[in-house]
Amino acid sequence: MQTYNSILVEDLEGLILVTINRPKALNALNTSVFDDLENLMNTLNPAQVKGIVITGSGEKAFAAGADISEFSSLGIDGAQNMSKRGHDIFFQIERFPKPVIAAVNGFALGGGCELAMACHMRVVGPNAKFGQPEVNLGIVPGYGGSQRLIQLIGKGKAMELLLTGNMVSADEALNLGLANVITEEGGEVEKAKELILRISKKAPLAIGETIRLVNAYFDKSQEGFSEEVKTFGALSNTADFKEGASAFLEKRKANFTGK
Ligand code: COA
Repeated sequence: MQTYNSILVEDLEGLILVTINRPKALNALNTSVFDDLENLMNTLNPAQVKGIVITGSGEKAFAAGADISEFSSLGIDGAQNMSKRGHDIFFQIERFPKPVIAAVNGFALGGGCELAMACHMRVVGPNAKFGQPEVNLGIVPGYGGSQRLIQLIGKGKAMELLLTGNMVSADEALNLGLANVITEEGGEVEKAKELILRISKKAPLAIGETIRLVNAYFDKSQEGFSEEVKTFGALSNTADFKEGASAFLEKRKANFTGK
């Protein structure tokens, strides 16, 4: 496995546990974290991965945003490059064909909220706090927050959170659809792992294609319904579909091979 400077990566029999490891800076996402996330996403072979859980080190934060100390000397080009690079890496996460779950402990603000939103689901502890406070700094979200927040909670509520910079609690996040589930304190990583293991028992091609189709809805260059028709046709011809249907009729557990 690679070595990383600002994240910890554990391969737990194909379940990849990623911990953003800058607890003194509340896991703020600096260039080093992005370098590490990019390396990780470029290195992982989806066929050998059950899924990814991303969490933050310590009890206080998932990630309290982009690292503000790196902002001052950027300039227009530097800032655009930073934003574009963040978009590219978060798209890699969003498009990964196995489930990626954010296990959110404490603050998920700014870039931290954006990273959590790029994940396929968010499992959160009772102390989780989400927000996009960029207006307090005189800037807008740079890592997809102005778009993914609308996708997850709708325009009106997204506008409210983006304009006020207010934080929402775990309960509010659950009501808004930003959080998928709330666990007991400290239980978010275990719950996220449990979800990944459950999903890993399903047919792998169907999982990857489901992620692709859900993302297609939000991709203006694609027509999601026709993508669904094509994908339904293609998967009907797979060994896993034959196995899944036979297993159902024979009242036994399916043994999927990813083919
Ligand atoms: N970038 C860089 N450093 C950050 C950071 C960020 N986004 N968020 C927190 N830190 C650092 C603080 O500077 C502080 O460092 P220090 O101990 O060297 O002074 C340390 O993390 C702890 O933060 P602190 O503010 O003392 O903790 P708190 O409990 O009083 O407040 C927050 C927690 C999350 C409310 C507060 O840190 C905060 O508002 N952070 C910025 C959030 C933000 O605007 N994110 C969007 C960035 S675009």
